[in-house]
Amino acid sequence: MKAVNVGLLGLGTVGSGTLDVLRRNACEIRRRAGREIRVAAAAVRDPSRKRGCDTGGIALGDSPLDIANDPNIDIVVELIGGDEIAREAVLRAVDNGKHVVTANKALIALHGNAIFENAQRRGVMVAFEAAVAGGIPVIKSVREGLAGNRIEWLAGIINGTCNYILSAMDESGMDFDAALRDAQQLGYAEAQPEFDIDGIDAAHKLTILASIAFGIPLQFARVHVEGIRGIAAEDIAYARELGHRIKHLALARRAPDGIELRAHPALVAERQLLSGVGGVMNAILVHADAVGPTLYYGAGAGGEPTASAVVADLVDVVRAITTDPQNRVPHLAFQPGSLAALPILPIGEIETAYYLRMRAANRPGVLAEIARIFGDSGISIDTLLQKGRGRADESVTIIMLTQRTRERSMDAALAKLAALDSVAGEIVRIRMEKLA
Ligand code: NDP
Ligand code: HSE
Repeated sequence: MKAVNVGLLGLGTVGSGTLDVLRRNACEIRRRAGREIRVAAAAVRDPSRKRGCDTGGIALGDSPLDIANDPNIDIVVELIGGDEIAREAVLRAVDNGKHVVTANKALIALHGNAIFENAQRRGVMVAFEAAVAGGIPVIKSVREGLAGNRIEWLAGIINGTCNYILSAMDESGMDFDAALRDAQQLGYAEAQPEFDIDGIDAAHKLTILASIAFGIPLQFARVHVEGIRGIAAEDIAYARELGHRIKHLALARRAPDGIELRAHPALVAERQLLSGVGGVMNAILVHADAVGPTLYYGAGAGGEPTASAVVADLVDVVRAITTDPQNRVPHLAFQPGSLAALPILPIGEIETAYYLRMRAANRPGVLAEIARIFGDSGISIDTLLQKGRGRADESVTIIMLTQRTRERSMDAALAKLAALDSVAGEIVRIRMEKLA
């Protein structure tokens, strides 16, 4: 059978990893796909730059749109990133009747609804396994493997850079900036690393996971997002003393009144498998009604791990190229006409437990004052630690773990606490997830 011609947009960390894997495993891949997958052309920003990968036999240029318009290209693989030129090239490829594979979560989270609508109209596939959790085949697992289930919730560590930084701070006492520099050098971080450390990348991925888990449209703007810049070494140490690790978690949950969509740091108990996920590794725990909990674990970033998912998508697309478009797996798991308009809950309406740290005056009655505010707000305190035994005129650090409560009740209680003369400075609040 004739080879399938691929046009590769981008030969950076993931693009060169993809080329390497396609070359090294060409024989196995051909046996799986049923025909040769041949990279015929590639576009990069600077074609004159020396590459670490073997570009022999590939027409190398600098125009993604030329590849999207090239009649000899069957599949466009978009590995540029961002949502400008990548979006234009993907939409052009789709309009030209080409199938697309992409690792670009920003593109799918922000423009996926329109891209899939166009793809549906043109009868082409847009595959995006590599966009979530690098090499872990979680899209395929949730979209196809769990198709018989009603998914109740999922929670994941889905940003390798955040996990790398938090793990390094926790395990080797490395400071934030040094750990971020390492993650950038290793090729894990986004071109804009603030997307990683401010939680945006995890929110892009969560948008995609929630859509295929619950059959809702992609709605990045509704995700509550917080990053890890504010996580202090002392909170990591206190969390550890209390039997927890601080992780950057992405959560999507069916609640009685709607869907929770949130990506933020959280305490996870040491007995939970997710707390042991270190370095650049990712893991996603999915809770579904028939199968119960399932856990997906592996490398969440890096050239070859991500290439593994890109190439798997290529094989899938090649196998399905001659099939009836109406009978292919829907892009977002549910048939396009069956997506549900479930409400997304504002953050004030979610329910969770909390870790709190504050400075309070060391005098009789202060703890009772604090406890009264929580009691009046209907918030139950699970654990209370006092650090330091300062003189009567000095302050001490108070650390608390609370039981689950509605976020807006916690907001109100913290506002009352902040107004007390006996509480000074910032009150640190980190959510604590039981994952039960
Ligand atoms: P890199 O920055 O390493 O590579 C980007 C590539 O795109 C480079 O080859 C660059 O060319 C090329 N490029 C950029 N702008 C243009 C342009 N205007 N025209 C033509 N080519 C262009 O990115 P990554 O490989 O890390 O990421 C690629 C995608 O994969 C992103 O969407 C990212 O989010 C996603 N991803 C990345 C992972 C990772 O671990 N790195 C993991 C999972 C997904 P040149 O080489 O000349 O500069
Ligand atoms: N920057 C991303 C991360 C790459 O650190 O997880 C993988 O999507």
